[in-house]
Amino acid sequence: MTELEVHLDAETQEAALRSDVVAGLTARRKWLPPKWFYDARGSELFEQITELPEYYPTRAERAVLTERAADIARLTGARTLIELGSGYSTKTRLLLDALTTAGTLTEFIPMDVSPSALTAAASRIAADFPALRVRNIVGDITQHLDFLPVTPDRMIAFLGGTIGNFEPADRARFLADVRAVLRPGEHLLLGTDLVKSPRVLVPAYDDAAGVTAEFNRNVLRVLNRHLQADFDPDGFAHVALWDADHEWIEMRLRARWPMRVTIPAVDLTVEFASGEELRTEISAKFHREGVDKELAEAGFTLDQWWTDPEGRFALSLARATS
Ligand code: SAH
Ligand code: AVI
Repeated sequence: MTELEVHLDAETQEAALRSDVVAGLTARRKWLPPKWFYDARGSELFEQITELPEYYPTRAERAVLTERAADIARLTGARTLIELGSGYSTKTRLLLDALTTAGTLTEFIPMDVSPSALTAAASRIAADFPALRVRNIVGDITQHLDFLPVTPDRMIAFLGGTIGNFEPADRARFLADVRAVLRPGEHLLLGTDLVKSPRVLVPAYDDAAGVTAEFNRNVLRVLNRHLQADFDPDGFAHVALWDADHEWIEMRLRARWPMRVTIPAVDLTVEFASGEELRTEISAKFHREGVDKELAEAGFTLDQWWTDPEGRFALSLARATS
């Protein structure tokens, strides 16, 4: 059985986009929040990224899930699996398989801003897990966690390293909000990409085929379509760099020449100097001590820390502390 609950109608989304665009593009150092990458095309481009030879995080996380899904099922006994930022829920099937084999799971509740990814995933999951109640929630995980149903024995999965796309202060707030919706003893399964050589990290965000560059420029297409802006996406070069002080990858779009962009929906004209950069995403990388500390500060106890054999990516199984 598949249900769809929508907390983000087109009007609310466009109001949020307008406010982010005004804040980000009038700032001294221009920026945009990464959630605007994910229209239907952006969600598809992200799926393509996950198959690129340079983009190791998805494969590494899948390796951990393959190895540990049965342990996760045994240790959590989860009856409800909630997935935040679920996208196409590709790797999640490993958890669904293990939890249905263990016989505990009755409900799967994915929440994402991208309705196209959610609905595509939902029909496949419903076909493969006919006994499962699938409740899709179109929502923003930074605003709509309160809409998550209160069902018995929940596990919230936040995979892919998407936690790294939050600024540190937003990350702390988000983890505290996740903790607030859980009862003591319920679980969080968190995927985090780990700090490693920039020789591995940078190509993962600047692939030879140019898919990540297209994903990055897609945010400009979203602004063109929804706000009638006149960005020339080809006028912006894709930039991915490693910020060693913050231990994060930063994606930017660099103006190849001076540009004046009009954005009629917010009555804004934005000037770009040649070489000026617009920050579109951070992707923070982690160490075990940092994850442990941030989880503890949010009210979680880290029960298990698992990595892939090459130590590139970690899955943390944490329990809401009383
Ligand atoms: N979990 C999947 C997808 C990761 S891509 C994986 O591990 O492969 C990041 C996903 O988070 C996208 O599907 C995007 O639409 C979603 N997302 C990004 N910001 C969001 C937000 N604020 N609220 C809800 N979903 C968000
Ligand atoms: C969704 N998120 C974890 C991806 C990442 O690796 O930070 C988004 C992405 N950006 C560029 N490539 C992939």
